Amino acid sequence: MDFKYFTLLLVFFHHTGLSEITASDDWSYIGDNGPEHWPDLCISGKKQSPINIATEDTVKIDLGKLKFTRYDFAFQGKITNNGHSIQVQLCCVPIHLEGANLPSTYILEQIHFHWPAEHTIDKNRDALELHFVHYNEQYSNASMASQHENGIAVVATLFEVC
Ligand SMILES: *[C@@H]1O[C@H](CO)[C@@H](O)[C@H](O)[C@H]1NC(C)=O
Ligand SMILES: [Zn+2]
Repeated sequence: MDFKYFTLLLVFFHHTGLSEITASDDWSYIGDNGPEHWPDLCISGKKQSPINIATEDTVKIDLGKLKFTRYDFAFQGKITNNGHSIQVQLCCVPIHLEGANLPSTYILEQIHFHWPAEHTIDKNRDALELHFVHYNEQYSNASMASQHENGIAVVATLFEVC
């Protein structure tokens, strides 16, 4: 099987970014635990993700380049199946994201997958979406960072099966 992929330079901040994946609460995309039953910000929030990106409504601006540091390094990690996703928790290699108008340098904490993709483009949903979850280096760890609006930056890559 081949994959075509592109990185959606969708650097989004999520306030509760980590609970998305680490919470043990039973949530789901459909049925009794589906989106209409998700609590709090999921209902009242105005800047929630995922979204559908309507290309017709997008605005082109040049934010400058994202700078990926040590993304080509081999590293140790712990792979977990948490029931919603396969997650790889990184350890011990400072892998950094900066640039593109980000307010700080962000440290890669974990990567995980969503299948099918969460974000859609013109309502088209790809087979797979990979999330690189980073936290702002000014906080001592990812859980502290996730309490702050500028704490978490996620880079999403969409994969199309071809
Ligand atoms: C994160 O840092 C805070 C404050 O330094 C500490 O209390 C907490 O235990 C740390 N959490 C993790 C998961 O390491
Ligand atoms: Zn995710």
